[in-house]
Amino acid sequence: MRKIAIMGAMPEEIEPIIGKLENVKETVYAANKYYEGIYNGKEVVVAYSKIGKVFATLTATILIEKFACDTLLFSGVAGAISDELKIGDLIIAEGVSQHDLDITAFGHPYGYVPEGEVCIPTDMNLRNIAKDVAKEKGLTLKEGIIATGDQFVANEERKNWIGSTFKADALEMEGAAVAVVCSSLNIPFFILRAISDSADMDASFNFDEFLESSAKISADFILTMVDAIDS
Ligand code: ADE
Repeated sequence: MRKIAIMGAMPEEIEPIIGKLENVKETVYAANKYYEGIYNGKEVVVAYSKIGKVFATLTATILIEKFACDTLLFSGVAGAISDELKIGDLIIAEGVSQHDLDITAFGHPYGYVPEGEVCIPTDMNLRNIAKDVAKEKGLTLKEGIIATGDQFVANEERKNWIGSTFKADALEMEGAAVAVVCSSLNIPFFILRAISDSADMDASFNFDEFLESSAKISADFILTMVDAIDS
């Protein structure tokens, strides 16, 4: 049977999921809590990593290597770059890039290091399942590139630079780290985000106000996806 990892960065991003699990077993490992449980008959392991690429790398690796998860779904919030995206809207990553990875001094493009990829594609099958779920629920789901970096972006100029350099529609702080782990270990992965702010001068205020509600929108969608994934 499949074992699905559901990962967020912050407690608010996974709490709506943990509350819906049966037979929950909590394990502390490497200073993080992991919740093994059953959702509608499917085995899942849920965890939040803490914010940023390094913590996300650690948690994704542990979910796969220690808890033997064979599919990883990320649920959380993001800052909008595209004007089409408003607070509460959902976006799925078709690919993810590290916007703060920079060895351009050696003639490489932003986001690239040798043997890496500027944009890592997410699993097409999981994206198709998400599109089917959205259709069934009558929800609008945008698909686009999500840019990741160890920065809370609250600046129009930086946001626009990220948008034009990576053709990104949204930004956050973990997705590309999860992508590096999962693609290296051949684990199909999926990144879903609901918009909490627009990465502009109001971003920190909006983030505080909408973190919980947007995180729940994303978490609810992820649970419907778990139902739709073959066991
Ligand atoms: N996640 C949600 N909003 C964000 C922002 N403005 N910058 C980085 N990560 C975010």
